[in-house]
Amino acid sequence: MRKLNKRIEFKIAADGSSASGKTTGGKLIAKKLNMKFLSSGTLYRFCALKVLENKNKYNLKFINKIANSITLKKLENKELYSPEVARLSSVIAKKPYVRKALKSFQKNFIKNSKLVVVEGRDIGSKIMPNADLKLFFTCSTKEKAKRRLKEFKNLDKKITLKQVEKALIQRDMEDIKRKISPLIMTKNAVLVDTTKLTIKQMEAKLANLVKNSIKKKYGNL
Ligand code: C5P
Repeated sequence: MRKLNKRIEFKIAADGSSASGKTTGGKLIAKKLNMKFLSSGTLYRFCALKVLENKNKYNLKFINKIANSITLKKLENKELYSPEVARLSSVIAKKPYVRKALKSFQKNFIKNSKLVVVEGRDIGSKIMPNADLKLFFTCSTKEKAKRRLKEFKNLDKKITLKQVEKALIQRDMEDIKRKISPLIMTKNAVLVDTTKLTIKQMEAKLANLVKNSIKKKYGNL
């Protein structure tokens, strides 16, 4: 598919559990079509990292200060991907004031981008309910754990497959069961099961979904 015409507006919400493929898939499609990309999880991870650095102490004032200091550059920090930060991010994500503090960054990013892919847990349900296309990623727990273990190995983190699997299940449960903005598949979302897909196959599937969805909105461009 060619890169999208700058005049059109097309916004994609990609939600799903941890390691379900939404970041990889979202990034691929954004690159292919020259769209902007935001992984909203990095915002929660950034706050979690700062909370850890603050000896686990945080309150509304602290979180608001951190949220106001966030820049896209700061979200590229590799430390955001440690198991400790991952675990704490889903704990603080349950707090209404944390979600509220991070909402304006996401809303601004979306408002300022005509072509955008945002991935997370509540993008289709809360942050971008009017998205042109909503994707919901899923994958078997075994496959997710294998993928995450590989990523941790690349970061030189010492952790076993069992530990990774346990942590993933716990984090997914926290995200599904929380009262505010839980991980949820909206009625109009398209399910993308990545368990048996290679990266190439996933890219082809997503490109097809996006192409059809753009055609629906704009006809043949
Ligand atoms: O997607 P990622 O694993 O980077 O997200 C880290 C954590 O941030 C998730 O486990 C979840 O608790 C939280 N999160 C969230 N809402 C989002 C994105 C992430 O609550 N939209």
